[in-house]
Amino acid sequence: MTWLQLRLYTQRDSVATLEDQLLACGAVAVTLEDNADQPLLEPGVGETPLWNQTRLTGLYPADSDMHAVLAQLPAQVLENHRVEILEDKDWAREWMQHFQPMRFGEQLWVCPSWLEPPHAGAVNLLLDPGLAFGTGTHPTTAMCLRQLDGMPLRGQTVVDYGCGSGILAVAALKLGAARALGVDNDPQALTASAENSRRNGVQQAQFKVALPQRVAMADWGQQADLVVANILSGPLVDLSDTLISFLKPGGDLLIAGLLSSQSETLRAHYTPVVQLSVVDQQDDWVCLRGKRPSAD
Ligand SMILES: C[S@@+](CC[C@H](N)C(=O)[O-])C[C@H]1O[C@@H](n2cnc3c(N)ncnc32)[C@H](O)[C@@H]1O
Repeated sequence: MTWLQLRLYTQRDSVATLEDQLLACGAVAVTLEDNADQPLLEPGVGETPLWNQTRLTGLYPADSDMHAVLAQLPAQVLENHRVEILEDKDWAREWMQHFQPMRFGEQLWVCPSWLEPPHAGAVNLLLDPGLAFGTGTHPTTAMCLRQLDGMPLRGQTVVDYGCGSGILAVAALKLGAARALGVDNDPQALTASAENSRRNGVQQAQFKVALPQRVAMADWGQQADLVVANILSGPLVDLSDTLISFLKPGGDLLIAGLLSSQSETLRAHYTPVVQLSVVDQQDDWVCLRGKRPSAD
């Protein structure tokens, strides 16, 4: 079966109305995309912000009368419209092809569950893309995974603050850490993290997840040998006291989610307690690492 797709371009305020109009005149799906390279980084929980300039694509069955569809839409949105034929494919397979096993450092691999890990003897983390952030494809996650791979984690305790899919906490556990705590302000992320830890054979007692307001030091029971946080620069500044309070004297702090232009400000913010250095850079993103002194 082939499909017809109608592409339209509009401003943020008109998106909801136009989306309803496309569905009302027979679209089986409407896709919204950025039309002006305006990244929307990490929306708050429950927020679905839109781009100022948005491209809408309405998907119609091949036998749709597109002249009749266009006649029902306001003339001003049809200025640059395009109608294209979209050949049908095995879309699930197309999507799955994007996710191949990825290697991080010496021994760590992240593999989708539908493929055999390429090296049975490696540390293989099984993880499928889902609703929570963290598959290993983003530079910030990749840099943290490479750092984890090179750390002596055996027997260590780890806090993964902003755990998303749980990829960093579960990687640390698979690399030998004894216990981990995953914290996220998105309940969906906690569900995903717990599910991913089970899929990777992590014992329930080894991995706890919690919303930030439920995280009392008493629940977790101890300060961690390693605190890792891959969040954006703003939250990393706001959360500095919290992150440091989780970190044992002598423990490591690993931070990502900031651009290289933001690293000096962030380093200055943490310097009174932890001296952070840039340990990796991928594209414009940097990864910082430092040790809390043994006695503050
Ligand atoms: C960039 S993702 C990182 C996910 C995963 N750790 C990784 O490295 O791929 C950041 C995560 O932090 C969470 N987050 C953002 N602000 C937060 C906050 N103030 N407290 C706790 N979690 C937060 C988001 O919900 C998201 O799951």
